[in-house]
Amino acid sequence: MSWGLENRLSRIIRPDTGHTLMLAVDHGYFLGPTRDLEVPRETITPLLPFADALMLTRGVLRTSVDTGSGTPMVLRVSGGTSIVGGSLADEGITTPMEEAIRLNVSAVALSIFVGTDHEKQTLLNLSDLVTEGERYGIPVLAVTAVGKELEKRDARFLSLCCRIAAELGAHFVKTYYCDDFEKVVEGCPVPVVIAGGPKLDTFEETLQLVRDAIERGAVGVDMGRNIWQSEHPVAAIKAVRAVVHEGASAAEAIGVFEKAKSEKN
Ligand code: 5RP
Repeated sequence: MSWGLENRLSRIIRPDTGHTLMLAVDHGYFLGPTRDLEVPRETITPLLPFADALMLTRGVLRTSVDTGSGTPMVLRVSGGTSIVGGSLADEGITTPMEEAIRLNVSAVALSIFVGTDHEKQTLLNLSDLVTEGERYGIPVLAVTAVGKELEKRDARFLSLCCRIAAELGAHFVKTYYCDDFEKVVEGCPVPVVIAGGPKLDTFEETLQLVRDAIERGAVGVDMGRNIWQSEHPVAAIKAVRAVVHEGASAAEAIGVFEKAKSEKN
């Protein structure tokens, strides 16, 4: 890895803790104005001080984040599909590397759809993006997407996806937490972060998910809905931070959540 690429990656995965709390707000690229992300700036602004990195599209970056922000940006560069279209897997590259450099981002992200009719196309998208990223020192995050088929999220399938992503050169991988998650991490020679997925019934479940993922080898989270669809998003991100960076248990992090709530966040 080049110095520039490693330097950018170290802005996202903090060298002092070896962990990261990425805040994902890219959902609109195929879901439109998702609940509680209708006005991106309003969702992002209060949470930004607590995020190690922000994952988003160029449209939201340009319109909804101040240019003075020091937070590392992870730019989603795949898309071209929508929740009402034919296949969510039929993604192409939406944003060229030149634009990523112009936007001064710390990494680019794209989805791969293993096991679908568009597997080859999305895997070749990844390979091309890695080649381009390495030319300019920009790390690539591969997202092991499952589209609408959430039931696919098991260790056998996610191990396959994560390993393929790493083999094609992804510098870090985003996947889902699952039973036997340590096997997913073991088979993936680059850092793994987890998505949160749809909002869970209770915030305790979210914190336990994060804790379990970290204990089983994830370097952190790239989480969206379970933070910003909370009734108390700032308290929620503070609690997730406590687990990711301070090794708090889910019970300890609930204490952080309750305290932050009472501080009127
Ligand atoms: C969509 C994404 C999202 O960023 C990802 O799903 C994380 O958000 P959430 O925690 O809400 O699942 O990559 O493809």
